[in-house]
Amino acid sequence: MQPLPPGDLSQLELVGNGGFGVIYRGRSTKLGMDIALKNTLRDSAADSECLMKEKEMMSRANYTYVLRLLGLYEAKGRKHSKYGLVMEYMPYGSVWTLFEHIKHVPWALRFQILHQVALGMNYLHHVLEPPIIHRDLKPHNVLLNKSLDIQLTDFGLAKNEASISMSQSIVGTVAYMPPEAFVSVTYKPTKEFDVYSFAILTWEVLSGQKPYENVNKELIKVLIPQNQKHRPDLNLVNKWTSQKMVPEAIQLMQECWDADPGKRPSFYAIIGKTNEMNTAYAGEIHNEIVKVLEELQTHNSPHSQTSDNPDCEPRSNPEPCTPDSTALRVSIFRDILHEAENGAANIPDRPAATETSSPDIADAAVLTIKLCTDCSSQTRPE
Ligand SMILES: Nc1ncnc2c1ncn2[C@@H]1O[C@H](COP(=O)(O)OP(=O)(O)O)[C@@H](O)[C@H]1O
Ligand SMILES: [Mg+2]
Repeated sequence: MQPLPPGDLSQLELVGNGGFGVIYRGRSTKLGMDIALKNTLRDSAADSECLMKEKEMMSRANYTYVLRLLGLYEAKGRKHSKYGLVMEYMPYGSVWTLFEHIKHVPWALRFQILHQVALGMNYLHHVLEPPIIHRDLKPHNVLLNKSLDIQLTDFGLAKNEASISMSQSIVGTVAYMPPEAFVSVTYKPTKEFDVYSFAILTWEVLSGQKPYENVNKELIKVLIPQNQKHRPDLNLVNKWTSQKMVPEAIQLMQECWDADPGKRPSFYAIIGKTNEMNTAYAGEIHNEIVKVLEELQTHNSPHSQTSDNPDCEPRSNPEPCTPDSTALRVSIFRDILHEAENGAANIPDRPAATETSSPDIADAAVLTIKLCTDCSSQTRPE
């Protein structure tokens, strides 16, 4: 184990949140690089445990198109320890934020994204043993590195295929969940779950729109299993069919969202097709990436704070729905400080949202950060 020295993290700044985690950007002196820190939104032993499971899954999935976990921090308390994941920082956020920031995402980049996502998923399903089912594949959970290559993240719902039980079935993000997940209480997620999610992601990448915008979640759950016609609006992708490879991508997308999971292709079959589509744009990709990077740089911050919470504002209104970011950041680090230093039996309430004092970077000194070489011992099939 090679712990990072106390006070190693600095310049912590809230950059994103989902339904489960809060993400900070920071700088690690020891590592000499920007890092992302994932903490749990709520403060409970159960959430800490979920974060540890996420760590195990990410550690297993060590691949080009999977976000690299650098380590974790641990703050020991009397009742339970608090943890956070230290990951590589992705300067351009997610595929979701890409479509928010770039007016016309070039087709070459769209097809590269689809192919790289398929490669990442193929790795999880068909290379790893036991395979990992991600269960939350969506544009928010596909990040972009400084070269705009994708990095799959958010393994919070991911499971080793062999260990999935029926009781774990009703989790996920509704729009990305397959029909079979809504019709049976004994449903057990399989690889085809992720293939269906890939279809919805493909629709978003082709259309640049959000699926089922303004449609009630309960209605989606009822309609999707009823009829295969109830899928994201095909008109919004069919209008692009004059573009090279779009017809092929629409065909693949429809196969992937087939009502019958048995008829959906595997990611191993999918990568053959996305490879062809991507190759058709090989001559354009370099220049297009240069242009997109230039456009992204015109934003004040390449990665403004984003919210991944499905209950938050739709894409057309990117206003975050988090509590005041400063107060949230202070509360988390003070909680850790309080419990670690005083061994408090009760975790203090979060400070009022009006609290604005800036976080003392020394707060980070109480965090014990272990490099991931040490995590490997905890990486084992469930
Ligand atoms: N390593 C990272 N670098 C930059 N931004 C990140 C990173 N990890 C997550 N984010 C941002 O934070 C959001 C939420 O992170 P995520 O891990 O998906 O949390 P949750 O489990 O709550 O969904 C992402 O959609 C993304 O916008
Ligand atoms: Mg997420």
